[in-house]
Amino acid sequence: MRRTLVLLLLVLGTPMTRAADFPAPEKLPSQADFPDPLVMFDGTKVTTKEQWQTKRRPELKKLFEHYMYGVSPRDALKVESMVLHEDKKAFGGKATLKEIALALRPGEAPPIHLLLVVPNERKGPAPVFVGMNFCGNHALVDDPKVLIPTWWMYPSHAGVKDSRATEEGRGKEKDVWALEQSIERGYAVATFYNGDIDPDQKKKREGVRPLLEVTRVDGAQGRATATIMAWAWGISRAVDYLVSDKDLDARRIAVVGHSRLGKTALLAAAFDERIALAISHQAGCGGTAPSRQNDPNVESVEKINKNFPHWFCDNFKKFNDDPSKLPFDQNCLAALVAPRPLLFSNAVKDQWANPQGQFEVLKAAEPVYKLLGAGGLDAREMPEPGRLIDSRLGYYIRPGIHSMTKDDWKVFLDFADKHLVKTEPRGK
Ligand code: GCU
Repeated sequence: MRRTLVLLLLVLGTPMTRAADFPAPEKLPSQADFPDPLVMFDGTKVTTKEQWQTKRRPELKKLFEHYMYGVSPRDALKVESMVLHEDKKAFGGKATLKEIALALRPGEAPPIHLLLVVPNERKGPAPVFVGMNFCGNHALVDDPKVLIPTWWMYPSHAGVKDSRATEEGRGKEKDVWALEQSIERGYAVATFYNGDIDPDQKKKREGVRPLLEVTRVDGAQGRATATIMAWAWGISRAVDYLVSDKDLDARRIAVVGHSRLGKTALLAAAFDERIALAISHQAGCGGTAPSRQNDPNVESVEKINKNFPHWFCDNFKKFNDDPSKLPFDQNCLAALVAPRPLLFSNAVKDQWANPQGQFEVLKAAEPVYKLLGAGGLDAREMPEPGRLIDSRLGYYIRPGIHSMTKDDWKVFLDFADKHLVKTEPRGK
């Protein structure tokens, strides 16, 4: 009897670890328009900051976990950091570069290899951008000490052979992260390969991912941790380290990501309030663009679920035919970042990522920003290409294609300059 009970608890999870129980997707009512982030799942209107913070915000997080991204791993892991190598005269003496191994489960799981560059000339701790890269840290710098990932890697990147990175890729993607430019503008940058957490393959889970307990506990309900959620969790583990580094300003951490990693950046900021600002670049469907849309030139819920089945949990696939049954849209995810600054950036030729829809998502996130007294989006129509709307909810579109460039980083830096204002440390 006791054994049965123990087994049952193991299968079901304890009440502490179980996410809220929500109806099956097909039982949800259709809603043609963006769901109002200020209306609770049971219809109650949210009218105060306190209600938002203590009731609706936690509820929305649970809804996104349950129906879209899978459960955020809640393992209380202590991140142990070890500096692997350090160069105090990187970029001609302008920065200190170090690579840090972040051990999540020493001996059991491989570490995250975090590349950190910090400007040498600065007054006090530096603000820092954090984000994952697609190509390995070695591709972003010339330094021969920076490690080459050993996991599966996207075959399209420079120097990748048989889906493994090689020495040939070193320094080949410097312009994508343009590290020196951020250094010159006074920012530190921390980045790691997304494959350290979970290499982006459809059927095989590697990196740290197989060890995330909650997947096994909650998987039965169709809400097992999916890859984008695992990546977002990985960003938070990097933040665990960043807040402990005395060279960095723990109150000025900005997350940034491109495309699928832009979806990740938004999710990370929505779930982790230590992140002070978020930039989601060309993230599109499943990130910054609405699930409710029917333009055939734009990525749909059905297409993304078919092409990238591992990014989202099984429950999300049940919305393929009718995304209007989702009890939220991406405006609610953007709203979870409130009152913090949030920028969506786009490219004119990247219609797949739905730049117009992303603008509408920001507008539909505004009620929460306004409730929290944080302003909103200072534009009613999409701006012409090249003009940054730099209000608390920010929007940018430039000519060109789906890519992340040095010029995009100039915009990210301008947005951060405006919003990541230095504040006095607490207690002063
Ligand atoms: C594909 C996918 C997008 C994704 C993009 C990327 O185009 O359909 O959803 O954002 O890849 O990550 O580059």
